[in-house]
Amino acid sequence: MSATLGKDLVGLEPLSREQIQLILDTAEPFKEVSERAIKKVPALRGKTIVNLFFEASTRTRISFEFAEKRLSADTVNVAVAASSVSKGETLVDTARNLEAMRIDMVVIRHGASGAAQFLGQRIRSNVINAGDGKHEHPTQGLLDMLTLRDRFGRLEGLKVAICGDILHSRVARSNIWGLTKLGAQVGVCGPATLLPRNVHELGVTILPRIEDAIQWADALNVLRLQLERMESGFLPSLREYNRVFGVTKERLARAPKDLLILHPGPMNRGVEIDSDVADGPHSVILPQVTNGVAVRMAVLYLLAGGSPDWANPGGGGE
Ligand code: CP
Repeated sequence: MSATLGKDLVGLEPLSREQIQLILDTAEPFKEVSERAIKKVPALRGKTIVNLFFEASTRTRISFEFAEKRLSADTVNVAVAASSVSKGETLVDTARNLEAMRIDMVVIRHGASGAAQFLGQRIRSNVINAGDGKHEHPTQGLLDMLTLRDRFGRLEGLKVAICGDILHSRVARSNIWGLTKLGAQVGVCGPATLLPRNVHELGVTILPRIEDAIQWADALNVLRLQLERMESGFLPSLREYNRVFGVTKERLARAPKDLLILHPGPMNRGVEIDSDVADGPHSVILPQVTNGVAVRMAVLYLLAGGSPDWANPGGGGE
């Protein structure tokens, strides 16, 4: 029997290799929809989706909204600061009130690790995790994998070094789970204070210096320092971080091969990555964003019960 997804997408850790493969394969034909003059197919016509973002977002929130609209769903963005959450209403009460208006799916970003799973266990609508605390950001992991697969034609055997603030990064966790399940080798590189204590249990190679990562990898996924999740004492200064761990043109010039450069955004130019690299010929930072729409269309479509053998999303535009 072919793989299907369950009710919710809370992370890549609970998914099988086949389920991850299914999402990536389903995203492929959805890429073409965004290249059409009329960027719309009827796949989710009649479905109502709520985007509930308790933390700031540019890429994830907007690409989920584009994905929903391109699938013809009805969408509502909840402005959390202007909602009754600000009067003390709980997450579950908020979601249950939305469900009373007959919604079908909730896309949630929340500062608390586990918020998406907590919600998914308490409401009947499908719940999609758009980033929960330091836990997971599954659609970011999926779009990173799709971008790597586009460029290398495979994930099996690929060496991907995740560089920077691994400790606070939900993107790192989703990449580690997803890439290792699909047969890639994952390295992690960053200051010892920014590596989780149990990181070696995740099946990754520890690369102590950025020079080690550059020598080892086929691709670097460069992460922002999550200053908003840090207490003090993790780093001497941002300038020091750039001097020791910054991905620069000069460092990449000493690589044995051209490395593909990924970054989930938002970037802090001149801190974890220099502009020469971010805007350089081996950067796929903007193609990652483009793939984010197709991956999110695939996730929404599959959770809504769409057929895995779907290959022609609605034929022509409507
Ligand atoms: N990559 C990412 O999650 O970016 P946003 O915070 O802008 O959504």
